[in-house]
Amino acid sequence: MSLTSQSVTAAAEEAISAISSAADLDQLKQVRIDFIGDKSKLAKANQSLGTLSPEQRAEFGKLIGMERAKVNQAFEARKIALEADRDARVLIEERVDVTLPGRRSLKGGLHPLTLLTNEISDLFLGLGYRIAEGPELESEWLSFDALNIPADHPARTMQDTFFVEPLDAKLVLRPHTSPVQIRTMLNEKPPIYIICPGRTYRADELDATHTPVFGQVEGLVVDRGITMADLKGTLDFFARSIFGSDVKTRLRPSFFPFTEPSAEVDFFFRGRWIEWGGCGMVNPKVLQACGIDSDEFTGFAFGMGLERTLMVRHGIADMHDIVEGDIRFSQSFGSGVR
Ligand code: PHE
Repeated sequence: MSLTSQSVTAAAEEAISAISSAADLDQLKQVRIDFIGDKSKLAKANQSLGTLSPEQRAEFGKLIGMERAKVNQAFEARKIALEADRDARVLIEERVDVTLPGRRSLKGGLHPLTLLTNEISDLFLGLGYRIAEGPELESEWLSFDALNIPADHPARTMQDTFFVEPLDAKLVLRPHTSPVQIRTMLNEKPPIYIICPGRTYRADELDATHTPVFGQVEGLVVDRGITMADLKGTLDFFARSIFGSDVKTRLRPSFFPFTEPSAEVDFFFRGRWIEWGGCGMVNPKVLQACGIDSDEFTGFAFGMGLERTLMVRHGIADMHDIVEGDIRFSQSFGSGVR
């Protein structure tokens, strides 16, 4: 490029017009490379000053300096304007609406049976009982023999109890929580105040009122001077706490090998008597089998179904609702997550 004053001012005008038509900061960056940077016409003009005579160098040096200053000024002004545009746009585009409702994810919840188990556990913990647990795969001896259930008792047969192979291992899926009584009495000395909530198994078909896997809660007290009045008072308290303060209980004579005398406990709820579970005074033979002096100590035990308790209290007509795990059913009981 031959250096003339026109070519310098033209290069500057070209640069200024490119600057003013840059629509955003990216374009402006490119304009800087093309029209201001080392490879731009103006920079090259400046570099060529060295080839000029001293007079021309002074003249063009001044001109180029002035034109470059104008270009730089225009560039800075455009940059400030475009940055202000960008900041304004970002404020709008990335605006956070703090008044929007939060996104709620579904919290896990406890199954109604678990809620009931916790409620019952809290109740008895409040009376000074302990919660005892035992395995669901249980020895036949603890499930039957130690409870004074004879070898030919119908409850033992294949129709009722799940025997687990190999059969000579003598293991069953526990058909009730009563083996936990035995485990406790074998391991601890009275006074004993426990409840054992837990899962139990019987060979029933699943229908509206039965399920082969169900829950029981068993209570056991062994102490000096325990009588049937203590049993009745405890059941009254239990029933009133679960079903309402006006609920009454009654005992009907019954038979269990591990209690003597034995009774069925019913409660009066919404105008009718409802069968709840079994109970009685711990059979002295059972105390003796567990090494407890049955002259010194007496005890009572009771056991009831958790599903039945839940169904009656909440008017649940079909067992399927409890076992199928449809979250819409469970949610109506609250999550139990505090
Ligand atoms: N174990 C008995 C059952 O499953 C219930 C029961 C428990 C009865 C304790 C008396 C005492 O049917």
